[in-house]
Amino acid sequence: MSRPPIQRPELDGPFPEHIAIIMDGNGRWATERGMLRVQGHTAGVQSVREITTECARMGVSSLTLYAFSVENWRRPSTEVRYLMRLLRVFMRTERRTLLDNGVRLRCIGRLEDLPAPALKALRRTEELTAEGDGMLLRLALSYGSRTELADALAAATRDALAGRLDPDTIDEETLRRYLYDPETPDPDLIIRTAGELRVSNFLLWQMSYAELYVTDLCWPEFRREELLAAIRAYAGRRRKYGGLLPKEEDSGARAGRGSA
Ligand code: FPP
Repeated sequence: MSRPPIQRPELDGPFPEHIAIIMDGNGRWATERGMLRVQGHTAGVQSVREITTECARMGVSSLTLYAFSVENWRRPSTEVRYLMRLLRVFMRTERRTLLDNGVRLRCIGRLEDLPAPALKALRRTEELTAEGDGMLLRLALSYGSRTELADALAAATRDALAGRLDPDTIDEETLRRYLYDPETPDPDLIIRTAGELRVSNFLLWQMSYAELYVTDLCWPEFRREELLAAIRAYAGRRRKYGGLLPKEEDSGARAGRGSA
């Protein structure tokens, strides 16, 4: 079956090729409605489904969702079990939609920490979707940026001790090669829901030049319209990577000539 045509929104500026999302506020959304926290996670799955499908249809190259952090293991075991079960069920129920939209799944994090049934379902979905020619969906699971950097350092040290890596040649690109998923370009846009102004140990290396967008909406309320608002906000940003925009360079040169 051929996947639906890509429909990019009309924008006044660049489109974010890689979007990463800190999905926050499931618990708050539920408790504000007199529901159990875990019901917020179930509602959050609907947003995962809608945002994944929308991003794939808009032609986003990569979408990274922060689904479970290394710190989340500290939550009550009932909530952790519920989340792991949701993940497993999601893999079974959403495989077809992922395949129909050409989405490839890739998981990043300390995946060996996950319960065997959840890990098996994730690996199976990764295998089945591996040939997808559309968007890459990355799920960050048992993920923490500091553990990613510690794991990278441990692997690089092992290589150095075995004579496969010369410490004198280590630069930024060397370190990148030891991260969980070195091939995927860094995120352009990081979205955080539920209003917190924090980055919570998420993609710290990779977000160096990402644009941030925070919304007060909780994750279960974050749907297509809000995604479009975030993408439009991104299109309006001017990314300088520490340099100057061409316009500014011109005026700098003119100012220099004037004062010479
Ligand atoms: C943060 O909300 C959310 C999480 C810790 C888990 C995110 C999980 C889902 C959206 C559902 C399952 C995911 C997939 C990919 C099937 P919170 O509980 O920290 O909210 P709070 O800050 O209001 O308590």
